[in-house]
Amino acid sequence: MTDKNRVLIFDTTLRDGEQSPGATMSHGEKLEIASMLDEMGVDIIEAGFPIASEGDFRAVKEIAERSKQATICGLARANPKDIDRCWEAVRHARSPRIHTFIGTSPLHRAIPNLDKDQMAERIHDTVTHARNLCDNVQWSPMDATRTEWDYLKRVVEIAIKAGATTINIPDTVGYTAPVESADLIRRLIAEVPGADEIVFATHCHNDLGMATANSLAAVEGGARQIECTINGLGERAGNTALEEVVMAMRVRHDIIPYDTGIDTTKIMALSRKVATVSGFAVQFNKAIVGKNAFAHESGIHQDGMLKNAETFEIMRPADVGLSETSLVMGKHSGRAALRSKLKELGFELAENQLNDVFVRFKDLADRKKEVYDEDLIALAGQNDGADEHVKLTSLRVVCGTAGPAEAEMGLTIDGEDKSLTTTGDGPVDAAFNAVKEAVPHGARLQLYQVHAVTEGTDAQATVSVRLEEDGRIATGMSSDTDTVVASVKAYINALNRLIVRREKTAPGADVKEVSYKDVGE
Ligand code: KIV
Ligand code: ZN
Repeated sequence: MTDKNRVLIFDTTLRDGEQSPGATMSHGEKLEIASMLDEMGVDIIEAGFPIASEGDFRAVKEIAERSKQATICGLARANPKDIDRCWEAVRHARSPRIHTFIGTSPLHRAIPNLDKDQMAERIHDTVTHARNLCDNVQWSPMDATRTEWDYLKRVVEIAIKAGATTINIPDTVGYTAPVESADLIRRLIAEVPGADEIVFATHCHNDLGMATANSLAAVEGGARQIECTINGLGERAGNTALEEVVMAMRVRHDIIPYDTGIDTTKIMALSRKVATVSGFAVQFNKAIVGKNAFAHESGIHQDGMLKNAETFEIMRPADVGLSETSLVMGKHSGRAALRSKLKELGFELAENQLNDVFVRFKDLADRKKEVYDEDLIALAGQNDGADEHVKLTSLRVVCGTAGPAEAEMGLTIDGEDKSLTTTGDGPVDAAFNAVKEAVPHGARLQLYQVHAVTEGTDAQATVSVRLEEDGRIATGMSSDTDTVVASVKAYINALNRLIVRREKTAPGADVKEVSYKDVGE
């Protein structure tokens, strides 16, 4: 296989993924995900949007400082202030990159009210500015797939002449289709002077469910960088899913003969990590990483499968880091066994984290006869709550057919104990009312979802809660064998995240949080 068939994987989970409403991640979570991506062999990590907030800047800077193999990239709108801030954050990386962009379609040109010539000049100036700071510059014409062909060709040429080393062609609204996606890249490479000297990238959104197909088609057309996210995390229907494009190129190498540097056995661990910290659970039938993606993992032991796994399997579970056994441990299992099982499942925990999970494992094993892989994944993915404003200390609910449900709750709020009793329409409502009374807030419950982790009435429930307050969205997740306890912990988890977002965007905060969609100066 020659180098011309090497496709770079550009992961934007921490930028395009994280900007999806509700997917906010903490500083520590971002660092952890970046380190896992680096270890998995991602070529370029888009670590964030440094001008967006002080927190974003710190995260990109620290990810850059800690990077080992990957190039670290930050996003910047088309103005010198954004670009300088981005450079400040990425410059300490072993290999830094500035990614600057502007919306070039008629709809996007109308927002900053620039005509075609003025925008062309802005592109020339900003790419030149970025290139004077960093020799690795990516430029994107946002909404490229709805930009007039002649204008797209013109601005791509300007960006290349100004020094861009990668040109990314975003399908910002998931509008294109495979034939068009391939054709667009092919024609740009054929017709733009200098196009053969740089790398073309594809960045697809999944609004019509074609992001994976469109990305692979762009590669057929000559793109050699795919921009994607773990689990396809991203706004609306999300971005191209990393695991899908990487496994498609691997499994169908006979007809999609391209290589990546990804260690695919690390996919499941990253998928679980991103699902837990973003609060966006992976749908059961999601390709590659869904709970049902490998039939025998969900207990459907078809006769053919038992005789020959290849009857129904085009890839082995181990190829993506999924262990083949499910029944694991009981209450007599020790710490060493837990550590080794968690490692097999992709969780390498520090000693204090292991201790914390071990306590919760023993508690679970006391309540539940058999502890499965899925139970351990739910335990290991849980936040220990150490740095949270609000914590649940006790809960007792009374419910049934006679009268309203009652919740008796103990909490600590910024270190102070509080206990109260509330009623409601069912146990979850009563318990949520207690949280609302103890921590008054105006957040609206946007989503409340419960999943059983395994089978049986003693199964753990994983609960997701999404809250919205003044346009700020935060998602929380928690698991417990008691559904009401899991619900309250998920609610408190979301509330704690909302409090952090509130502090970041308060009127007196250092830097106002901005979105890459705010046109800026
Ligand atoms: O979808 C998009 O156009 C983007 C750009 C900022 C590259 O995410
Ligand atoms: Zn995007």
